[in-house]
Amino acid sequence: SSLDRIVIAIDGPSGSGKSTVSRRVAARLGLGYLDTGATYRAVAWAALDRGLDLEDGAALTALATSAVIEQSPDPTQDSVRIDGADVTQAIREQRISAVVSKVAGNLDVRKELVRRQQEVAARGRVVIEGRDITTVVAPDAPVRILLTADERARLERRARELHGTTDDAAIAATHDSIVRRDADDSKVASFLTAAEGVVEVDTSALGLDEVVAEVLRVVAERVPAA
Ligand code: DC
Repeated sequence: SSLDRIVIAIDGPSGSGKSTVSRRVAARLGLGYLDTGATYRAVAWAALDRGLDLEDGAALTALATSAVIEQSPDPTQDSVRIDGADVTQAIREQRISAVVSKVAGNLDVRKELVRRQQEVAARGRVVIEGRDITTVVAPDAPVRILLTADERARLERRARELHGTTDDAAIAATHDSIVRRDADDSKVASFLTAAEGVVEVDTSALGLDEVVAEVLRVVAERVPAA
């Protein structure tokens, strides 16, 4: 069917809900899943683990080039390993979120990780999510979606995730990991506005099920057999 080689590319800022939505969509359509943010996080974890200077671009590039990164393609199973170490939980820690933009800002690191992501895209039958999937990794994907949400909605989602509440202290504690990181990340990948041909879905006022339904609707429109 036309799902055989399908690639669904999904981008968005932090707190747009793209990981959860992408996993659900992949599960619903029986497709694989690739979280490219987790790849950058794994490299950041290994850099800290080895005591690398994050300003040392050559060392970071050497690490990214040699690292064996394994991610479960099953959207219902979160599993990330780098050089054999299971970092599934560790890469979500604040100490990684705080430095990952430095790793992702290295253009040679990006070149290597994009190359690997494009190999996954070439095999097809996958939902790939990140910041530059619709524009750089898979600009020819039949389905390309940008999930957006206003800043308040993104802060509330991440505060609930990290602190279980959306009180002022939780929002303040979340600010850096959303607003500062998006500002840094958008210097190297353009994910704040939809590129030509990319469908924008504003999730600010939508619940998870509604976003999933909207994405599936876009998929069905673009790939009728789905
Ligand atoms: O989606 P996330 O928060 O797990 O992403 C981690 C970091 O990696 C984020 O700061 C942006 C960066 N990133 C990127 O530059 N390009 C991607 N395709 C995915 C993530």
